[in-house]
Amino acid sequence: LDRRRFLERCGLGAWIVTGLGVARALMAYMRPHSLLEPPTRVVVARRDRITDGTVIFDRDQKVVVVGTPGGVYAMSAVCPHLGCMTRFKAESGLIDCACHGSAFTLKGEPLYGPSGPLRWLEVTVNERNEVVVDTNSEIPAGKVFNG
Ligand code: FES
Repeated sequence: LDRRRFLERCGLGAWIVTGLGVARALMAYMRPHSLLEPPTRVVVARRDRITDGTVIFDRDQKVVVVGTPGGVYAMSAVCPHLGCMTRFKAESGLIDCACHGSAFTLKGEPLYGPSGPLRWLEVTVNERNEVVVDTNSEIPAGKVFNG
């Protein structure tokens, strides 16, 4: 191996190593690193803070959590008519949707307007005694979590 050939092989080797490094970096760049969908299980509050008569309207998580003598239940705060965000009116104790004028009881039953009932969602309590609502898991209306 003369000096010229040795330097050519070193140069070729350097190009191959550089190409592999660039290819690896491109592969890492192209691979998604984050989940684009928000989590469906959301922590609302400590269980002991949700007593009979408590209503938590969590606009960010889009859930309504209600405390009853028999336990806790949760509903989606998204209007099932066309997907607008509802709001809780403490003075009337009703949930309403400003988009097309629907109103709901605290059990999600429609009182008036074009919408059907609010979706009831599964409630659990985690190991830290926090109420967790699964916004992706609809349950039959009237099923109260009593844990
Ligand atoms: S989106 Fe709520 S009433 Fe139409």
